[in-house]
Amino acid sequence: MEMKKRVAEAAVEYVQDGMVVGLGTGSTAFWAIQKLGARVKEGLRIKAIATSAKSEALAIELGIPMVPFAEVDYIDVTIDGADEVDMEFNLIKGGGGALLREKIVAAASRQLIVIVDETKLVRQLGQFSLPVEAVRFGIETTKRAIEQLGCRAGLRLHDGSPYITDNGNYILDCEFGTIEHPEQLTHRLNAIPGVVDNGLFIQMARKIIVGYRDGVIKTLE
Ligand code: 5RP
Repeated sequence: MEMKKRVAEAAVEYVQDGMVVGLGTGSTAFWAIQKLGARVKEGLRIKAIATSAKSEALAIELGIPMVPFAEVDYIDVTIDGADEVDMEFNLIKGGGGALLREKIVAAASRQLIVIVDETKLVRQLGQFSLPVEAVRFGIETTKRAIEQLGCRAGLRLHDGSPYITDNGNYILDCEFGTIEHPEQLTHRLNAIPGVVDNGLFIQMARKIIVGYRDGVIKTLE
């Protein structure tokens, strides 16, 4: 918890007055939103766009002013977590089920700052099951088509029922083991009818702030 808080707080130092800020989702992004809330109380003037209903509710509770997406041309900086990060700054995201909004927000951002602990750094992506957001209609067919790409796909459950995203879709968690060619895989997945998007973020991150067990925090860029 302490490490997550520290990397999150290091990322929030990049936020300046007047910025539009993208708020990530997850237990590390939680601390970034907390810190932003504290800075807003001290007088920081920002507007925010959240990547999930949960992060939006937290931001509102903390008094962070939100702005409708339609009213901004771009986001200055987005701070978000990740499930895996490789040497080329490719990411797996979506462990918290928010990958679609996270990717839309990241793509609209001038800078995506990713906050992780050292356990998320990997040589090759794929140990973490890749989340794929898919529409409910025809999910079994979509699942079979995804499995043709060389994985086992499982429908994500929550309290025994299928997990439903903020966008009303399902998540298939796909066990690839290793992903040799992430860029190729993202295109192949997104070409399957029924797939809305997947959790591979190909070179979207500008900075990776990493917390190490010994307390050191490093910024990779
Ligand atoms: C949510 C995400 C999160 O950023 C990712 O799962 C990391 O979460 P945490 O900081 O709790 O480990 O992609 O969809």
